[in-house]
Amino acid sequence: MNLSTKKDIQHLRQEYRSASLSENDIHVNPMVQFQQWFDEALQGGVKEPNAMTLATADLKGKPSARTLLLKGFDERGFSFFTNYESRKGRELAENSFATMLFFWLDLERQVTIEGPIERLSYEESVAYFHERPRESQIGAWVSRQDVRLDSRAILEQQLVYFTQKFDNESIIPMPDYWGGYLLKPQRFEFWQGRPARLHDRIVFEQMALGKDWTISRLSP
Ligand SMILES: Cc1cc2nc3c(=O)[nH]c(=O)nc-3n(C[C@H](O)[C@H](O)[C@H](O)COP(=O)(O)O)c2cc1C
Repeated sequence: MNLSTKKDIQHLRQEYRSASLSENDIHVNPMVQFQQWFDEALQGGVKEPNAMTLATADLKGKPSARTLLLKGFDERGFSFFTNYESRKGRELAENSFATMLFFWLDLERQVTIEGPIERLSYEESVAYFHERPRESQIGAWVSRQDVRLDSRAILEQQLVYFTQKFDNESIIPMPDYWGGYLLKPQRFEFWQGRPARLHDRIVFEQMALGKDWTISRLSP
């Protein structure tokens, strides 16, 4: 087995020099600032700019993380869709606090967003469910996310079963274990890579939902 040596890994190093972030140019509304950086990630050709890492924790504080696709954001918060019975779903039911992390390497930027998460309404989840391609809707029935499988063949059999089951249905119903979540932001950190590891980090914090944002700079 050819594993990378510690030295190979230690020598991986990238200097960040393409942009800067200052208290003077950042927008006072972090949602507007996020929109601006998201647009720049889209225009900059970042692959899957809406991919982010969602970190959750159980009641004992044991963390877990996974990649998800952001499916929308507005003044209420940031939304994504998943299986409510998955590990993340179970952890969010115990402990609603979570963190989303976007890493846009091409722009040398990272954004973290923290806050409580709640389920989107049934109507909003159904509306999005039916916008997904038909195969993805069937996929939601096939995948009981996080249930242990004895083999891949079981998944393939389930796919055949549900494809036939819904063959004559023009509208596929949404499984009751599937739907959306909304993260209501209470803290944002905008991180811009700078040379010599002297990165810019600007934080927005809100003491309670709906209160004013305080802005501060953190040492890198
Ligand atoms: C690029 C990418 C996008 C993904 N998007 C989603 C998503 O939007 N919803 C989802 O449930 N899982 C998505 N997944 C799969 C999750 O990372 C994860 O495997 C799954 O949700 C189970 O997570 P859990 O066991 O921690 O709950 C995505 C994975 C990748 C790599």
